[in-house]
Amino acid sequence: MTDPWWRDAVVYQVYPRSFADANADGEGDLRGIRARLPYLKDLGVDAVWLSPFYPSPMADSGYDVADYRDVDPRYGTLADFDDLLAAATAADIKVIVDIVPNHCSSAHPWFAEALAAGPGSPERERFIFRDAPNNWQSQFGGPAWTQVADGQWYLHLFDAAQPDWNWRHPDVVALFEETLRFWLDRGVAGFRIDVADMLFKDELLPDTTPPDGVAEQLEWTPAKETPPYKHQKELFPLYRTWREILESYPGDRVMIGEIWLDDQELKREYLAGDGLDQAFNFTFMATPWDAADLRAVIGRSLPLAHAQPWALGNHDVPRAVTRLGIDQALVRNPTAEVLRGEVEVDRALGTRRARAAALLLLALPGSTYIYQGDELGLPEHLTIPDELRQDPMFIRMGGAFIGRDGCRVPMPWAGRRAPYGFADRPVDTWLPQPPDWAELTAEAQQADPGSMLTLYRQALRLRRDHINGAFAWLDTVPDADVLAFTRGEGFACVLNVGEQPVTLPAHLRVLLASEPLDGGVLPPDTAVWLDLAK
Ligand code: GLC
Repeated sequence: MTDPWWRDAVVYQVYPRSFADANADGEGDLRGIRARLPYLKDLGVDAVWLSPFYPSPMADSGYDVADYRDVDPRYGTLADFDDLLAAATAADIKVIVDIVPNHCSSAHPWFAEALAAGPGSPERERFIFRDAPNNWQSQFGGPAWTQVADGQWYLHLFDAAQPDWNWRHPDVVALFEETLRFWLDRGVAGFRIDVADMLFKDELLPDTTPPDGVAEQLEWTPAKETPPYKHQKELFPLYRTWREILESYPGDRVMIGEIWLDDQELKREYLAGDGLDQAFNFTFMATPWDAADLRAVIGRSLPLAHAQPWALGNHDVPRAVTRLGIDQALVRNPTAEVLRGEVEVDRALGTRRARAAALLLLALPGSTYIYQGDELGLPEHLTIPDELRQDPMFIRMGGAFIGRDGCRVPMPWAGRRAPYGFADRPVDTWLPQPPDWAELTAEAQQADPGSMLTLYRQALRLRRDHINGAFAWLDTVPDADVLAFTRGEGFACVLNVGEQPVTLPAHLRVLLASEPLDGGVLPPDTAVWLDLAK
């Protein structure tokens, strides 16, 4: 039996609203994605994960889904989706779609029916309506309950426009089984499952103790206690049923969960073979640039490496180039001041580290997810005017958290000024692009041997041929600031996180380096791939 394709895949996350805008209305669309498939092919990715493109009032940029089985008109039509999938398949790129099962949009017809039907009605049972709220806080800040006109309250762990489903209701179970089949029938290679750990809530809806705080909401700090809306045991049989549905289709289809969880034992329960295939390694994403911390998180993750894709970013976290360019004590909780550009960000340092981090990530066992624009080294957009911000977190947290818009800015493809080829004519993009991105466009980086894009392309190509052996730490570089490991006998990755240059271990040749090397010496904040050719 051959390994399923996703075990070592490089998956590219497309955030459709900001990827490419074929109809020049300021928001991306499916035809735009299709037109950029050659770019993705050239980059060398195995698959794309499309963040939600379903009909949505966009209270949370599409993570508020009004219809799970259609395409929002701003993104195109189902026929456009089929065309995109066919073109991707022809290019040998698999397509993973996002499924958002914790909540829908308040514009979903079932929620409208629930509101109309009133307290005690069967329609309300598909959601979590109560006569009085408990003390739960929304993940976006503020109370997790909103009162409706007749006096009842409904639960929303995110925005008020995202009512939580009642997962103990058979209609909800059936809705999602049909949704999985709908997209599988069209040919998708799998699903990224949004908020995969929160679908079931403790039936008694007990108060949390202590009450959730904003730090926990930001998820960068692992919660001290598991809240009663996370990791409930009913999740595991649910994902087993979903697995059976996926397995009733030919080929290997993947289910990857969004689960912010460091506890490897609990994670194993999700990944125990007949449930989810993968769950992101968010602990790694939130690790500061520190050799001991990196070594610890990698070591801890290795037993489940193939089930926990590595990633440097996604649409919810500040861009890697910016994260790695700030005081590393702030990495887990970037402050509003940082994300407003009021605190110094060393972009050159962040970029240098992000280049090294890319080589680290792509050399580790397992799959890697690349968030659109990270291959261009895009920084967080730190100067979005407040009145243009869209993220509900910004609004609900009242300034305590600046929100996630800064990493969701439309992609710069070409040209000297906005919209940088995102659309082919001048248009106000849904989030503004910074005025200084001309050097960061795909076009500007295309032929530059020193660009981030070139580094990613080379790395993805080399990875196929050279990086497939077993992982082992390499102890011949006895420096506390160095991470070194081999993959089989012929390949080594060495990363210098410290401030002093270090001597490289013996090697036949350098395959790739994140910065120019100085003879046999590895400069600070640099990673190198070595051919050991034994
Ligand atoms: C996930 C998504 C995030 C969204 C939230 C609510 O965390 O990644 O973007 O806001 O779920 O759906």
